[in-house]
Order: sequence, then structure tokens, then C-alpha cells
Amino acid sequence: MASIGIFDSGAGGLSVYRELVKALPLERYLYFSDNAHCPYGEKTAAYIQERGRTITEVLLGLGADIIVVACNTATAAAIATLRAEYPAVPFIGMEPAVKPAALGTRSGVIGVLATAGTLKGSKYLNTRGLYQDNVKIVEHVGQGFVELVESGILDGPEAEATVRASLQPLLDAGADTIVLGCTHYPFLQPLIERLAGPEVKVIDPAPAVARQTVRILQERGIPTGEGPFSVDLYFSGEPDSLERIFKLVK
Ligand code: DGL
Repeated sequence: MASIGIFDSGAGGLSVYRELVKALPLERYLYFSDNAHCPYGEKTAAYIQERGRTITEVLLGLGADIIVVACNTATAAAIATLRAEYPAVPFIGMEPAVKPAALGTRSGVIGVLATAGTLKGSKYLNTRGLYQDNVKIVEHVGQGFVELVESGILDGPEAEATVRASLQPLLDAGADTIVLGCTHYPFLQPLIERLAGPEVKVIDPAPAVARQTVRILQERGIPTGEGPFSVDLYFSGEPDSLERIFKLVK
């Protein structure tokens, strides 16, 4: 049985946890929500690196064999530092799903929704650079999306107005494929799909991250599939937001 540590600024990483459990149903999961410091989106890289270190120590102390940085913003700001400082620990990060979007678009325009930190990170900018000659890539910060998910507001007039404000510019630019570049956003995916209409494809990168986790566990020879399954939730703030979203992924 592998002990899989997962962390995010809040409940968003549960969209990755949900896919991990589908791919690896018999492992021990340790989920850390850093909700006392959420959102990460506008914080400095140094701040997020410090949080990443603290949380890594907690997860390793609990026996994690591998750490999934289930947060695009923390991946952009801190995964390179964490890998350098903990060379023995496998870290899995979030990939902006620009490649499948670029391969699948028919209009030739793809939209990316992410936090400000992710959009200015070198990882995203490099990926963008690989595809921008072939497709037009338009970006928008999902302004207020993280706060909606942390409050458990996933539908209704307030969620609709907030989501529409960031989504509409991408649709107006002709995007037929929308990449969810923040792990909180998949909890708004039904609403995003309804507002965008049936012609628009929305991509959640979590299943690809789960597949990558399976590959790395195999590569490292960490045994899986033996059970029993367990999950423990940890948080730096109040439990409510995590428990609300956890009910959806159980
Ligand atoms: N869920 C995170 C991400 O994937 C962080 C969002 C935030 O805290 O701003 O980027």
C-alpha cells in the first residue's frame, strides 16, 4: 500500500484526489488543505515555497511515500524548490492541459482559466510557447472562482455571474476548448459547461495527473493495490470548506 500525500491551498485538490482514488483505489491518502493561507493565486513564490516546505514536512512525518502537489499555483511556484530540497521524495505536479486542448480544437482558439500565479509561471509560459504558433491561446484568471468553491457555492445566481465574467471573454475570442488550470475549477465544471454550451469542450487535467502518479509509483517500485483504502483530512484553517467539498467526491 502506498501512502499518498496530497496538498492544495484548499479543497481544490480534491478534484485530483477524486481521480487518484479511481486509478488507485486501495491506497492510504493524506490530504492537506492549507485553507488558513488560501488563496495562493496572488501570493509570492517565496511565500508559497515556504508553505510547500511546511506541508511537505507534515506529510512526510505522517509517512507519505509520494507527494501530489494538487495545485497549479503551488506547482508553478514551488515544485522545483521542493524537488531540489527533498531529492528522495517523488513530487507530482499539475500540468496545464494545453497540449490536449491544442490537439483537439476545431476553431483554433483555446481558452485557459487559471490563477494569476499559474499564468505568469515559467512552466505555463513554456508550454504556451510550444503551441502558440499553431493555435491562438487566450487566458483569463478565474476571478472569484476559488472563493466560490471554498464557500461551497457551485451554482445559483452568484456563481453564475462570477463564472460568466471570466468565461465570456474566452468565448468571445472564439475558444471552443477551455482548459481548467486550477484544481478548484473542476467543481464549477458543470456550471462552466452549461454557460459555455454544448459546442465547447472543457478539460480537467486531473485524470492525466492520476495516470502520471501511477507511473511514478511503478517506476519507484512503491507497491500499490494491496489495501486497505483510507483517507485522512488535515487543514490549517477551519474544517468546513474541505468537508463540504469532500462530500462531493466521496
Ligand atoms: N487550487 C489552486 C490551483 O490549482 C490554488 C488556487 C488558489 O489558492 O488561488 O491553482
